[in-house]
Amino acid sequence: MRLFTTIAALGCYLNSQKSAAPKKEIGLVPTMGALHAGHLSLIQRARQENAIVVVSIFVNPLQFGPKEDFQDYPRNLEQDRLLCEQAGVDAIFAPSEQEMFGKSAVDVANSVAEILALKLIHPSSLTQVVPPVAMTSVLCGKSRPGHFQGVAAIVTKLLSLVQPTRAYFGQKDAQQVAIIRKLVADFNWPVEIVACSIVREASGLAMSSRNQYLTQEQKQQASVLYRALQQALKTFSSGDRTAAAILAAVKAEVASTAVELEYAELVDPNTLAPLFVVETAGLLAVAARIGSTRLIDNIILRNRRPIVAIDGPAGAGKSTVTRKVAQALGLCYLDTGAMYRAVTWLAMTTNTPISDECAIAELVNSSYLEYNLDPTSGLMLKINGEDVTEAIRSLEVTSRVSEMAAHPVVRKFLVEQQRRCGIKGSIVAEGRDIGTNVFPDAELKIFLTASVKERSRRRLLELKNSGAADISLEQLEQDIEERDEKDSTREVAPLRKAADAVEIQTDGLSIAEVIDRIVGLYKERILTTPQS
Ligand code: PAF
Repeated sequence: MRLFTTIAALGCYLNSQKSAAPKKEIGLVPTMGALHAGHLSLIQRARQENAIVVVSIFVNPLQFGPKEDFQDYPRNLEQDRLLCEQAGVDAIFAPSEQEMFGKSAVDVANSVAEILALKLIHPSSLTQVVPPVAMTSVLCGKSRPGHFQGVAAIVTKLLSLVQPTRAYFGQKDAQQVAIIRKLVADFNWPVEIVACSIVREASGLAMSSRNQYLTQEQKQQASVLYRALQQALKTFSSGDRTAAAILAAVKAEVASTAVELEYAELVDPNTLAPLFVVETAGLLAVAARIGSTRLIDNIILRNRRPIVAIDGPAGAGKSTVTRKVAQALGLCYLDTGAMYRAVTWLAMTTNTPISDECAIAELVNSSYLEYNLDPTSGLMLKINGEDVTEAIRSLEVTSRVSEMAAHPVVRKFLVEQQRRCGIKGSIVAEGRDIGTNVFPDAELKIFLTASVKERSRRRLLELKNSGAADISLEQLEQDIEERDEKDSTREVAPLRKAADAVEIQTDGLSIAEVIDRIVGLYKERILTTPQS
C-alpha cells in the first residue's frame, strides 16, 4: 500500500495505473480518518468493485463551523494506515491543508487564528461550489450553515484529483449523499456515487467517528435513536405512511430520555423536500444531542413491493426460471433481455451501424421505451411508439444483440429504464448485473449457477431439440468456459455474485425444484417480514 501526502505523487501513481492495459477501474473512499467499521464497509465494497482502491484522509476545515469540533476531531493516521493496509487498500491520500488549499489560504487562516483562536480555512479565499440552497438549508443545514458547501468543495476537489470510476459514501450522512449525487449529476461528472448501508453497533447505535466522544453510558443512551427509527418503521409498515404518524412515533420514543432531539424530519431522499406522506420512498432523518455530542441517524422508508433479482452465468437457466418464478408468485417478469433486443431492433431498422458506439449513443438516448408491467396481460414492449414485442424475437436481432449489449452507453441507458420499472417493485428480474448494479437493494437476490459440464450438457440438448447439434460436448464446454471468463472480467457489467445473494447450484435439480427453492426463499424471507 502506498501513502501519498502530495497531489503530485498521487497524480503520478494514478497516471501509472491508468496507462496500464486493460483499463483499471478506480474506487475512491473519501474520509476524514478515525476509521471505524462503517468506513471499512465502504472500503470493502470498493475493494469488491474496483481494481484500485484509494482512500483519502483529510479533516476538511471548510465543513466545520467556528464553534464546531475541528480542533478536537479525532486524528490517528497510524491506526488508519494499519486498518487500510489490512483492508487491502492500494493507496492512501492524506494531504496537509497547505497541500489542499495552497499556502496563501493557510497563511490567512493562521493570521485569523491568532486573533480568534481558531484555525479554519475561510471559504472566501477559495473558489466556491454552491449546491442548491433548498438542499443545504434543511435538516443538518439549519444548524450547520456552510457545512455542505464545504463538503461540496472538498468532494469536487477529490473527484477531480482522483477521477474515480466510483466514489463511496456512507448512507448515515444521507443529506451529504443526496447533495453529492446532485453535484455530480448537475456537472455530468463521469463517476458513480455508491451509498453504502449504515453499519451499527450491537445496540443499534450508528457507527460514527464522533462516537469516540461518548462515555459507555451515553453510548447506551444514544441507541434510543435507532429504537425511535424502528418504532417509526413499525408505524409505516402497519400502513400509516403519513409524516405526522411517523414523526410522532420517533418523538414518543425519544421523549424523556437523555437524548435531546434537534430534528426529526421526513423528506424525499433525492431532493430533500419535505414529505407529508410516503408515496414511493421517504428519508426519515434525525439529529440529536447527547451531552455536547451531536449525532445523526436515518432510515429509508420504502413503499414498494419486493424485488427478486436473479443473476448468474450464461446457460444456467435464468430466463426460464425467472419467468416461472414470476408466474408462481404473481409478480411481473422484467425481461431485461427484451429491452436489449428492442434497441438492437431499432438500430437495425434505422440502419445505424452497431459498431459505431457514438451513433448508437445518439440513437438510444433519443428513443422512448414503453414496457408493460401488468403480469396478467403478458409482455408488451414499444420503442418510439411502435409495438416490437414480436419483431424483437427474429433471428437477425438474436444474432446482433450481444454486440449491442456490449456498449457501455446502451447498458447505462437501459439500466435507467429497468430501475424505472422497479420503482413500485413487485417484479422478478434477471440479467448479468441485476442484483449487483440495477437493483442493489432487491429484497431477494439469487445467483443461479451450474457447473460448466452441466450447462454444456443442457445446451447440447437444446441444440439437438432444435435440430442443430453438429457440435461436440467438449467444444461446448470450452466455449462456455471462455464465455464465463469473458463475462466475469469484462469492463462493463462484469458477472459477479452480490455479497448478499443466495447461490443455487442447479446441477442435478429440475426446473421445478429450482423454482420451488426460490419460491420457498421468498415466502420465508419476504412474506414473514413486515412489508409496507
Ligand atoms: O463524510 C465525510 O467523512 C466527509 O464529509 C467527506 C465526504 C470525507 C468530505 O470531507
